[in-house]
Amino acid sequence: MELREIGNRGIRVTPIAMGCWPIAGVTTINVTKEEALGTIRAAYESEINFFDTAYAYGHNGESERYVGEVLGPHRDDVVVATKGGYHWENGKHCKDARPETLKRELEESLKRLRFEYVDIYYLHGPDPEIPVEKSAEAIAKFLEQGKTRAVGICNASLEQIKAFQTVCPLVVLQSHFNMLQQDVQNEVLPWCEEQGIGFTSYWPLMKGLLAGKLNRDHRFDERDSRRNYPIFQGEQWERNQDLVDVLRGIAAETGYTVAQIVVRWTMKQPRMTSVLCGARRPDQIRENAGAASITLTEQHERQIEEAIAERMKYEH
Ligand SMILES: NC(=O)c1ccc[n+]([C@@H]2O[C@H](COP(=O)([O-])OP(=O)(O)OC[C@H]3O[C@@H](n4cnc5c(N)ncnc54)[C@H](OP(=O)(O)O)[C@@H]3O)[C@@H](O)[C@H]2O)c1
Repeated sequence: MELREIGNRGIRVTPIAMGCWPIAGVTTINVTKEEALGTIRAAYESEINFFDTAYAYGHNGESERYVGEVLGPHRDDVVVATKGGYHWENGKHCKDARPETLKRELEESLKRLRFEYVDIYYLHGPDPEIPVEKSAEAIAKFLEQGKTRAVGICNASLEQIKAFQTVCPLVVLQSHFNMLQQDVQNEVLPWCEEQGIGFTSYWPLMKGLLAGKLNRDHRFDERDSRRNYPIFQGEQWERNQDLVDVLRGIAAETGYTVAQIVVRWTMKQPRMTSVLCGARRPDQIRENAGAASITLTEQHERQIEEAIAERMKYEH
């Protein structure tokens, strides 16, 4: 797979990365440890070199442990990113990015991974209780100490990104981005591009919707958190299905899957460094990695753009 430079610290990553949230089992029902390890292995064997985990992936750091277990022997061939500042407390998601917390979490992450350093350390999200510069100061120290090779930030506004960058150099921003959610392209990514800051996108498949596997008449299980998002409800749901129907048509004509067509579109977007593809089974990540080598005709590309434009008309 081709490699793309992320920021300016000599880190080169594949445009398709493995998102290591679904293997940790918090929202994914019935994922076993064997499946999780097999999915990471399948990603590595499919030439993916970039793995995205976090302190908070799994109630007890399962994702970091699995990543370390499989990738430890390949440490020099892979780029592993983790994050700090979010954690779980009695099953509840909490934000705490005070310097002392970040320091403790990074040490714990390194132990779970069994690594001496990570390649990218992200602030998982600004802590509303403290100025973002305070978290940035702590993370700048990790950089000086060689505990991380580079630094990123997730889920931050442009003002917060700018404030962080005044204290600690950033190589990457991580935010949601997919065919249905492209706001970050308006202001944030142009500024990041000027600064030489790369971009990794999460939810490329919008939690499975853009993989085409949820049919128009799908009924969500009571326990499925997706049913709470407007994107999965009412008129938005119907319009999203109209877009997915166009993708299903192209999939039928080309023999590619809807997920592959969507991942390919995402990796080709301006300013995109790497698309974080979540997967919980080996076959899913193999399929998604296959998106790097598919080709579409100009007519199919135009059809996709028209279907997205049609969908976006209803957003404004
Ligand atoms: N920084 C942040 O705050 C943040 C937030 C969210 C995510 N992330 C990162 O971004 C990554 C991606 O986000 P995500 O995992 O939430 O969502 P996603 O990539 O949009 O969707 C992942 C889900 O799509 C389904 N899927 C994947 N490949 C498929 C395929 N080929 N065919 C059919 N279904 C397929 C699986 O659903 P099933 O489980 O139903 O099979 C999988 O759990 C995460 O893993 C994480 O690394 C970061």
